[in-house]
Amino acid sequence: MFLYAHRGASAEAPENTLAAFRRALEVGADGIELDVHLSADGVPLVIHDETLERTTDGTGPVASCGIEGLRTLDAGTWFAPQFADEPLPTLEETLALLAGRLRLNLEVKESRAGRAVVELLQRFPAADVVLSSFDYGLLASLRRAAPELPLAVLTDDGNWRRALARAEALRSCALHPRADLVNRPLMAACRRLRLPVFPWTVDAPAQARELARMGVAGVFTNDPGGLRGYFPSPTA
Ligand code: G3P
Ligand code: CA
Repeated sequence: MFLYAHRGASAEAPENTLAAFRRALEVGADGIELDVHLSADGVPLVIHDETLERTTDGTGPVASCGIEGLRTLDAGTWFAPQFADEPLPTLEETLALLAGRLRLNLEVKESRAGRAVVELLQRFPAADVVLSSFDYGLLASLRRAAPELPLAVLTDDGNWRRALARAEALRSCALHPRADLVNRPLMAACRRLRLPVFPWTVDAPAQARELARMGVAGVFTNDPGGLRGYFPSPTA
């Protein structure tokens, strides 16, 4: 079972920080999922929300702040005091730390970030990356800009056939459905298309075991350290 550390090892360290990514490496995750927004001055930044309030001591939209100000924010204290002053990572420093060490799933959260991400990736040829998005228009524009780039369709749509049709049209390398949408007809359809399935977000070993029985290739988990004991790495 391939384990993507969801926002890093986010059960143990503040999500989408270098601390969470280092922890994911330590516990033997096979890959790391992270979220990308763009600063006001066009720098790809690793953060999940459009706004700063939940995971930093800043306020307002990420897209309204310049990178210099964003880099002064504390993205760790909200999680636990020992992570005080953990910064919001840029995508560039994240790639510098992780490229070539494990697979990275970059979830592009806004359409204006797509081009900046593709440009930055050109400087990291050793990176094993998959770009994903809920936004089909964004994925289609990424496919046009970079015909060989591995793309994955993210879906929380109960109509999984629509997501599957999109994955096929995009020559997607994987389908990333919300875990409760996975069922046997979906798995059979993906098998016919030779499309690996990676559901999110799965922390309970019993749920991961059930999904493994259905044939998923891996899962996104906040707790890769917890699941690793039950599921050996396919890359080991
Ligand atoms: O990529 C899987 C998952 O991260 C998608 O949802 O909201 O956690 O970014 P979200
Ligand atoms: Ca995500």
